[in-house]
Amino acid sequence: MSEKKGTDEKTTDTGGEKLAQGRRGFLTTTGLAVGAGIVATQVIGCGDDDEGASTGGGGGAGGGGGGNAHSVAPGELDEYYGFWSGGQSGEIRIIGVPSMRELKRIPVFNHDAATGHGVTDFTKELLGGRLSGDTHHVHLSYENGTYDGRFGFVNDKASARLARIRLDTMECDRVVNIPHSHGTHGIFPQRHHTGYVFCNSEFRSPIPNDGTNMTDPTRYAAMHTAIDGEAMEVKWQVMVEGNMDLCAADYQGKYSFATCYNSEGGVTLEQMMASDRDHLYVFNIEAIDAAVQQNRNITHIGDSTVPVIDARGANGPYVLRIPVAKSPHGVNIDPTGRYAVCSGKLSPTVSVVDIEKIAQAFSGEIEPRDCVVAEPEVGLGPLHTAFDGHGNAFTSIFIDSVVTKWNIEKAIQAQGGEEVDPIIQKIDVHYQIGHINATMSETKNADGKYVIALCKFSKDKFLNVGPLHPENDQLIDISGSEMQLIHDGATYPEPHDCVVVPKDLIHPTKIQPRTGPRFDLYNRWAQGDSINLMQDNRVIRKSDTSVRVYMTSQAPTFGMTEFTVKAGDTVQVIVTNQDNVEDLSHGFCMTHHDVNFLVNCQDTNSMTFQVPNPGVYWYYCPWFCHALHLEMRGRMIVEPR
Ligand code: CUA
Repeated sequence: MSEKKGTDEKTTDTGGEKLAQGRRGFLTTTGLAVGAGIVATQVIGCGDDDEGASTGGGGGAGGGGGGNAHSVAPGELDEYYGFWSGGQSGEIRIIGVPSMRELKRIPVFNHDAATGHGVTDFTKELLGGRLSGDTHHVHLSYENGTYDGRFGFVNDKASARLARIRLDTMECDRVVNIPHSHGTHGIFPQRHHTGYVFCNSEFRSPIPNDGTNMTDPTRYAAMHTAIDGEAMEVKWQVMVEGNMDLCAADYQGKYSFATCYNSEGGVTLEQMMASDRDHLYVFNIEAIDAAVQQNRNITHIGDSTVPVIDARGANGPYVLRIPVAKSPHGVNIDPTGRYAVCSGKLSPTVSVVDIEKIAQAFSGEIEPRDCVVAEPEVGLGPLHTAFDGHGNAFTSIFIDSVVTKWNIEKAIQAQGGEEVDPIIQKIDVHYQIGHINATMSETKNADGKYVIALCKFSKDKFLNVGPLHPENDQLIDISGSEMQLIHDGATYPEPHDCVVVPKDLIHPTKIQPRTGPRFDLYNRWAQGDSINLMQDNRVIRKSDTSVRVYMTSQAPTFGMTEFTVKAGDTVQVIVTNQDNVEDLSHGFCMTHHDVNFLVNCQDTNSMTFQVPNPGVYWYYCPWFCHALHLEMRGRMIVEPR
């Protein structure tokens, strides 16, 4: 048992709270304690204990020292957390900025073989058994116009879902299915506090979609959906006629926005592209909330209990349609909260909407089009716009493969007839840029340090790796008067968007907190079986054909080195990791049964599987956890029935 002593002995006291010891300290002490662990100790006990690696040499991010001012030397930390969507990979990725190192992947709508996300009991139910998804936009929860560090939200375009990520553990804890919605694309949380998260459905579909009205385009509609970001419940939907694309929320909580690219209401591409102008839809939250509360103008579709307002057709109290440049894609609100910038996609212009004029347009005092105060020409194929907090905008230009820096005030002056050129600089990007974002651009505290250009094609930028090429996320320094391209970052397909947040705003834990819906589930099971998850090892036969196995793990052993079931059983294994050591993850892999999941320090995780055939099957820990990690295993004995 001497090898286990290390887990208890070395703890460091910080601020009165006993913190778990570092992983390296754990490995070194336990490695030494194990008589035969000399080789392993040499491999892993390779340096100073708690200090960071050498800081000699190059300057850190943001300057100092010699070398490249933007490089992040070994042992130094990035200034920013970047949260990237993973597109059709269904995940979120955490990228350090400015190093552009990938730090972690957060599985969301996918099956992740490393962690078991998607197939463990909790995540299987969370995802409804679906193992693919298409994440496009990650946004974080807000308080008073900036990030509060609590949640991330991300869409699944494929199956019309919204997921929430806990930013303390960086894991998905809730998923909401959005009714009557196809191609849920743009999302945005309210920015005055964590209220609604708005979601746009992009694909117009028959309402209801029950096979009765598929050929009549007038029966098609799209939904603007409000989801409560705390409760993760759908609160209401507003039905509109056009295809909605990107989404935004203002800073006051009065409006949400959607770009609409098919005001024609067409169902073929030709029909969708017919008119020269499309619209920015503005949703009046106060009016919609009041109608829902008073049950006014509300319908329900099919057997859904979600209140729906049918706002198709003309402007009314709920939806205002502001004509903007053809086929708008992105809508982004500047850090002052005053202007919404819509990028034209099929027009070389962006439309700047003055949000302060919207109330007058709703009341009919001015025309909706009067809200557009500038339309600068920025290049061919503008898609999205980011901001530096100094009045400048950075628009991604897809066809030209450039980022255009322009000044908002000057664009407004030019619209008023003044002889000013709002365009400041265009910089080449490589190639075909889609989304763009800047550090803190979607908050009132945009800091003007970096722009991320998420390019759809890398062409000649990297070594050839076969027919599927990486994409290229480029880092641009915007802190000086000229934009400077400073990094090429290959990415696996296909990040769509990102937000980049100073590291001080995010506070992840190092040990699993045993809270949230996942632990509600485990605690309920354990209580029903009179089990103490943290210490009990027991096999409980739940029925003639099902068995529940509670098991602990502590490096380098499972609390149970064998258990017996019968052929034909459904077996559920629930593993609790007793280790209270930073980065000491175990896992549970049952050979030949397609079972593999992660159990972090102080975590519980579980999976259910069928056991059709008699025999002996070894289970083992797949995560390197100890000098005797390879020995961390046991036998499942399957008796003939
Ligand atoms: Cu536990 Cu490897």
